Amino acid sequence: MATFPQLRLRRMRRTESLRALVRETRLDVSDLIYPMFVVEGKGIKEEIGSMPGVFRFSPDRLPAEIKEIAGLKIPAVLLFGIPKEKDDTGSSAFQKNGVVQQAIKVMKKTAPSLIVITDVCLCEYTSHGHCGIITNGEVDNDKTLPLLARMALSHVEAGADIAAPSDMMDGRVKVIREALDGKGFQHIPILSYAAKYASAFYGPFREAAESTPQFGDRRGYQMDPPNVREAIREAGQDIEEGADIIMVKPALSYLDVIRQVRNTYDYPLAAYNVSGEYAMVKAAAQQGWLDEKRVVLEILTAIKRAGADIILTYHAKDVARWSKEE
Ligand code: PBG
Repeated sequence: MATFPQLRLRRMRRTESLRALVRETRLDVSDLIYPMFVVEGKGIKEEIGSMPGVFRFSPDRLPAEIKEIAGLKIPAVLLFGIPKEKDDTGSSAFQKNGVVQQAIKVMKKTAPSLIVITDVCLCEYTSHGHCGIITNGEVDNDKTLPLLARMALSHVEAGADIAAPSDMMDGRVKVIREALDGKGFQHIPILSYAAKYASAFYGPFREAAESTPQFGDRRGYQMDPPNVREAIREAGQDIEEGADIIMVKPALSYLDVIRQVRNTYDYPLAAYNVSGEYAMVKAAAQQGWLDEKRVVLEILTAIKRAGADIILTYHAKDVARWSKEE
């Protein structure tokens, strides 16, 4: 093996064409999923305070936005619904004419080939803000499962292309798979939030989705941030239950988790660049403290380099615009 002065690693860095030739990781718009918030009502397009550039839309205001997203060649969106009425069991999550169900129909009509993924979780629909039914002050895993299955089925019946459970109940992928198969939806994939941590980086999302728990926190069901072996078991459980794509969330503080899940399973792997990660970059950029475009591309490239195939990110539209400029 050559050593210095014959060996010079700088040789392949000298020009952009040389760097491009040996680049190991490439970020592409086709890797991205854009998360969106839909709210019940009419004529609404309101910006989320802690997430500049991200809006809540009522279903009637979606077509223009969807056309823009499809025009930017972003392949998929992830939908979150914010209903008017919340109750103990989150029953507005599976109404035929619920806010997400309406939004799916508008989206599929506006841009049929845009992949519509729906978040399956009760926290935006329950009055207490937890991701399941409460029994004796705790989130009851087994009582929650049938509601999640009903919710996923209701989204798919409205036209959703992929169901994405994010609640962290044990057994949810299994019951959702059974519910979909039972109604002839064997072809609909499940993207499971397999390793979802109890993270402070969800703060801005909870403002956006009005889903802050009214008591306690989510540490009894979401994962403990110091654990990585447990993430492998979580992903394994979801794969055994029938998940088609597995996800690690958040992304930036969990790059090691992404890498280990990637090294363990040959399944498509997604990572969620969450609301708090977005808000930090936006806030610093607004102050002029860092170069937004370069920082965003560096972060998303790092998530891919760690092993993610797919990235869910609120930066998706910006990335798509930047790639058109080049
Ligand atoms: C619902 C859900 C959350 C996020 C996605 N699905 C919030 C939570 O678990 O509290 C967070 C997304 C983000 O922060 O961007 N359970």
